[in-house]
Amino acid sequence: MCGIVGYTGPRDAGPILLEGLRRLEYRGYDSAGIALVTESGELFVEKKAGKLANLQTAIADRTPNAAIGLAHTRWATHGKPSERNAHPHCDCGKKIYLVHNGIIENYKELKADLEKIGHKFSSETDTEVLAHLIEEYKKQVPLKEAVWRTLAHVQGTYGLAIIDRSEPEKIFVARNGSPLVLGVADDGYIIASDIAPIVRYTNQVIYLEDGEMAEVTPCSFQVTNFKRKKVEKEISKIDWTLEEAEKKGYDHFMLKEIIEQPESMQNAIRGRLVAKEGMAKLGGLRDVADHLREMKRLVIVSCGTSYYAGLVGKYMFEEYAGIRTEIEYASEFRYRKPILDKETVVLAISQSGETADTLAAIREAKNKGAMTLGIVNVVGSTIARETDAGVYNHAGPEIGVASTKAFTSQLSILALFTLFLGRQRDMSFVMGKRIAEELSKVPEQMKKVFKDSQHIKRISKKYSGFSDFLYLGRKYNYPIAMEGALKIKEIAYVHAEGYPFGEMKHGPIALIDENFPTVAIATRDSVYEKTLSGIQESKARGGKVVAVATAGDKSIAKLVDDVIYIPKTLEMLTPLLSVIPLQIFAYYSAVQKGLDVDRPRNLAKSVTVE
Ligand code: G6P
Repeated sequence: MCGIVGYTGPRDAGPILLEGLRRLEYRGYDSAGIALVTESGELFVEKKAGKLANLQTAIADRTPNAAIGLAHTRWATHGKPSERNAHPHCDCGKKIYLVHNGIIENYKELKADLEKIGHKFSSETDTEVLAHLIEEYKKQVPLKEAVWRTLAHVQGTYGLAIIDRSEPEKIFVARNGSPLVLGVADDGYIIASDIAPIVRYTNQVIYLEDGEMAEVTPCSFQVTNFKRKKVEKEISKIDWTLEEAEKKGYDHFMLKEIIEQPESMQNAIRGRLVAKEGMAKLGGLRDVADHLREMKRLVIVSCGTSYYAGLVGKYMFEEYAGIRTEIEYASEFRYRKPILDKETVVLAISQSGETADTLAAIREAKNKGAMTLGIVNVVGSTIARETDAGVYNHAGPEIGVASTKAFTSQLSILALFTLFLGRQRDMSFVMGKRIAEELSKVPEQMKKVFKDSQHIKRISKKYSGFSDFLYLGRKYNYPIAMEGALKIKEIAYVHAEGYPFGEMKHGPIALIDENFPTVAIATRDSVYEKTLSGIQESKARGGKVVAVATAGDKSIAKLVDDVIYIPKTLEMLTPLLSVIPLQIFAYYSAVQKGLDVDRPRNLAKSVTVE
């Protein structure tokens, strides 16, 4: 959700910033812009609407050498995606340039006040008021204090980086609600919305907290808080490698990440699954294990794909750990009046660890005295830092906007967590062992699904003419129906509805005819027979059906139009396999249409605004 990057140091800033934007582009790609302070102290600014490539082409032969600069890739909130609204934004004097991720909520009033005293605005954005406010305060106080006063004046969220021609060797960065990381390299400092642009240069980072500002020069930095007090910051080490963040010859990150799932799942369970004892060892939960033993209720908060992982988690926790579990969209949780007590634990699931709604839900839960946990992929992210305890996915960087490997690693951790909680309670050793053994087999079983990729590709071609789909699943596969529908919506722009199978007859069945195919998840499990009845109902209305079924189930092939088989596993683990054909189906549906799979329109990977 908007990516910002800045550099100051002995190297040439331009290429570092453009490379940084390339790595941040998954956060938004409505426009891109750059501001450099050249060696002669001049400002070079360029912005272009659309993807980063437009900016790169525009400045290819004329990017000046510069030791300091800022750049931005935008996901539009206020003001349409256009060159005019692209960041960096500046003041009237064209001295102060800044890039922003977040929303300034009171910008309209501030803009009106500033216009009254003569400020001229050149964009429709909320961001621009920041530059004019700093300009105004600078008439009375030095730049740093002007920035503080500006921040005190605005309501909303920001990850902000500012340069000013009058103090050309510095970048000021400030954070409130939107992430900001400072990379400490041997040759200079890189600031960015996340670690993706930083890993190439250093693994030493500092995470800014809300209410902090850093003043960064080519050879030093200082962090202060709103009280203007110096804050000593700890340097953290990141373990993601540059190689993990590359496409490695795949056409798209999404495809690479789909194929990586056996490995990312293995990484999620490695060292945590004690198959012999039917147990899970989760180091991140060690300190809260006693509290979890006493827990009476679990509330899961998450968004998007992470929400569907949580829904599978609810089924697992209730069936195997006997814990009353509720799941809620984080965006709803934060605004209603959730009933929480000391015996309730709130679990956030988030790939990025930065989703604004999920973060706000966790903060609300903490305010109400509940213990908070996180299942988070990005190490050091805000949700990971703000929750009381948690488990990292270890899925490595997920770059494709549509989540795939993060989802299956979330499911794996939810299965581990079920074992952990279940064995604290009534789950028998035999059941624990069974789950653990089946879980350890899943990575190899995933590889078997990939063997069918060409078959799935052919099916996606066959159905490429349809513009509506119904995705149906029951019990553990109901969330997978939702996730499958989300995937094809997100990247192939196909209208798809995900429903629990049993609900079909309460509405969606009215839509079914020869132009409205159904994707049915019909694995051999406790609800198989019921699922078959649903398929019959669909077929009876002339609808085409593609089924995801259990290997060896020949009879289903006679009933439906097309089948994709997945290996047999324990019912609660089926989602780890049944989702894969749906990811591949969505992927090829988008590729066949020539769409930009990794950067679907209007979406962003890390949604750091409401
Ligand atoms: C965005 C992304 C989704 C993701 C959701 C939640 O909408 O496009 O892929 O599932 O945010 O993100 P999180 O990082 O919290 O899992």
